[in-house]
Amino acid sequence: MAAEIISMINWKGGVGKSTLSLHLGVGLMLKQKQRPKVLLIDLDPQCNLSYLALGVNNYVDKVYKKGHLTLKNIFESYFEGKEISTSDVIISQPITSRPNKVWLNVDILPSHSDLVLVDMRLARERKSGTTHQEETKFELDKVSIIYNAIKQVENDYDYIILDCPPNINLVTQNSFFASNHYLIPAIPDFLSTVGISMIKSEMEKLNDNFKRMISYSGAKIDYSDAEILGIIFNMVDEYRGSPKSTHEDTINSVNSQHKNLVFENYITDGDGISVAANNNMTVYSYESLPKSKQNAEKQADYLYDIVDELLAKIRG
Ligand SMILES: Nc1ncnc2c1ncn2[C@@H]1O[C@H](COP(=O)(O)OP(=O)(O)OP(=O)(O)O)[C@@H](O)[C@H]1O
Ligand SMILES: [Mg+2]
Repeated sequence: MAAEIISMINWKGGVGKSTLSLHLGVGLMLKQKQRPKVLLIDLDPQCNLSYLALGVNNYVDKVYKKGHLTLKNIFESYFEGKEISTSDVIISQPITSRPNKVWLNVDILPSHSDLVLVDMRLARERKSGTTHQEETKFELDKVSIIYNAIKQVENDYDYIILDCPPNINLVTQNSFFASNHYLIPAIPDFLSTVGISMIKSEMEKLNDNFKRMISYSGAKIDYSDAEILGIIFNMVDEYRGSPKSTHEDTINSVNSQHKNLVFENYITDGDGISVAANNNMTVYSYESLPKSKQNAEKQADYLYDIVDELLAKIRG
């Protein structure tokens, strides 16, 4: 069975795209007895997911000192018209489960800070074709770089989670093109929820555009729309076991605007996530996080509930 491919999308910064990519990735693996295989792909030049998964020092050592390949090399191979093997870019088992142990079934394809330049170069890149169809085909080539890279390894994984940067430039469009699902992480403040309708309508436009380009150019691409799985609220403050009233109001209003899309479960604001990050772990490793055991355990419980909901939505 081919992998479920999920993009984490919200062009508002700091809502938890990277944190959730990491925690849903590990959570999907831990929550299922058959221990599915998960690949995380970091598409953001900020490299936050790569740092969270590997630890900053380990990332610097691997990528800058030892020259390990990154997503940048995948895009460069497109510009240079060369082949690159996706499995050479993937780093296996980067995430610490407890001191000196790693999670076995979660891998990462790391990002690189030079990816900012890739977005600009992709936008500038124009190949002139002899027909309009051929030029449309070239435009499709620019958004199917990640799609092609994933095709090589798709059968090795059950879930592939793509952490997008906070914009909708060509790298994000590549992620969307490659995905069959997307999730919108959000925080319960007014301004960040206004954007949700915009994200949904932009994503619908992208799906339509891609399909039109494929049929017009005659490109042989097996494209499926990326369907929205839902909106996950993060950094929710609780009062007596429920979201505090201002947060609850915001969540309810988004829920009434986007029927059946808001996850029933949410993630609380708490230091478990940052303490875990400082120790290169996830909150699931709360036993190894004495400074914030209680809080990390609570966030882990809430995340497990979100994973259950996510699985139900994926299975339809
Ligand atoms: N539930 C939470 N409780 C406390 N802190 C959190 C929580 N979720 C995320 N954070 C913190 O908030 C910050 C932003 O989170 P994260 O980097 O995951 O957001 P992002 O959407 O990926 O940001 P960007 O748009 O810059 O890529 C991080 O410092 C992270 O540790
Ligand atoms: Mg991020």
